[in-house]
Amino acid sequence: MARSDDSSVLGQFIPLHYHHNMLSDGVRMRGFKTAIDYAVPLGGKVLELGGGTGVLSFFAMQKAGKVWCVERNPELVSKARQILSLNDCGKKIKVIKADAFEYLPPEPVDVVICEMIHVAMLREKQIPIINSFKERYLARFGNPLPQFVPEAFIQAVQPVEHDFTFDGFYAPIPILQNPNLIHEKTRELGTPMVYQLHTYRDPIPYQCEWSGDIEIEKEGSLNALRFVTKNILAVVTETKKTIDWHSHYLILPLPKAHPVSLGDSIRIGFSYKAGASISDLEETLTTEVRPSSSESRLPATGAA
Ligand SMILES: C[S@@+](CC[C@H](N)C(=O)[O-])C[C@H]1O[C@@H](n2cnc3c(N)ncnc32)[C@H](O)[C@@H]1O
Repeated sequence: MARSDDSSVLGQFIPLHYHHNMLSDGVRMRGFKTAIDYAVPLGGKVLELGGGTGVLSFFAMQKAGKVWCVERNPELVSKARQILSLNDCGKKIKVIKADAFEYLPPEPVDVVICEMIHVAMLREKQIPIINSFKERYLARFGNPLPQFVPEAFIQAVQPVEHDFTFDGFYAPIPILQNPNLIHEKTRELGTPMVYQLHTYRDPIPYQCEWSGDIEIEKEGSLNALRFVTKNILAVVTETKKTIDWHSHYLILPLPKAHPVSLGDSIRIGFSYKAGASISDLEETLTTEVRPSSSESRLPATGAA
């Protein structure tokens, strides 16, 4: 049986048919296209880590002089070569079959594009890969580091009430939500609390952790937490604006529902490794509802 930390079960080998979802996500595509167009200098050198179908390298090639597109999955490597050859400028992109944990370009680059992002920085290896890349790049080429696309990320957690019934069947399981749609089955019970904000250029901790209180702003049955990851694809200094893309939200059911009222708070704690599984996050998660009007404390974790 596969172990939960096997790379094969942790988003490292996304099958080809799933790439259709990524290519069809207009918000993601437009965000990356605009950010890449902004970040890549005319005639510049670009490295993409985790190229998939090669679409982001294709965007980069519209302005760059050289693009190296690194992909580990052999099926995707040959598909990317084939697809890129069907697109203008695509043939100029060098598709390399390699592990992004090991590959370095033959010369310094201006921009590194890497989209191995899953909500909460779970499953996929964005943070370990960027950390490994920076260390090896600096050892070989020295400063300056290239510009990264995305440039930064912000993570938040929010108390919610979620309806886990499916045609009358009750199944409290982790759910991924499209951030661009309205979700009638989810009621927000408090404001999202930011627990991480990092720029890729600076050191990023491998551990994603937080412990703190969130105030309950609406009465309800607190039975889940929503995890939010906002990716800052580029900071446009001229307009002081950012080009953003939200990963799918994660709704994580709690072991037990708690009736909560305005003014209560929930104390949340978790600590998981970037790239770990959703169940790794669940295992470290502790929650405790703290009623506003009483001394009593209601522990929520572990109760059936
Ligand atoms: C989320 S997909 C993004 C694909 C493409 N960049 C896009 O935006 O459509 C991540 C890609 O990274 C590749 N990948 C995952 N781990 C890798 C590694 N260690 N080295 C190289 N590629 C990797 C996967 O096979 C997958 O194609």
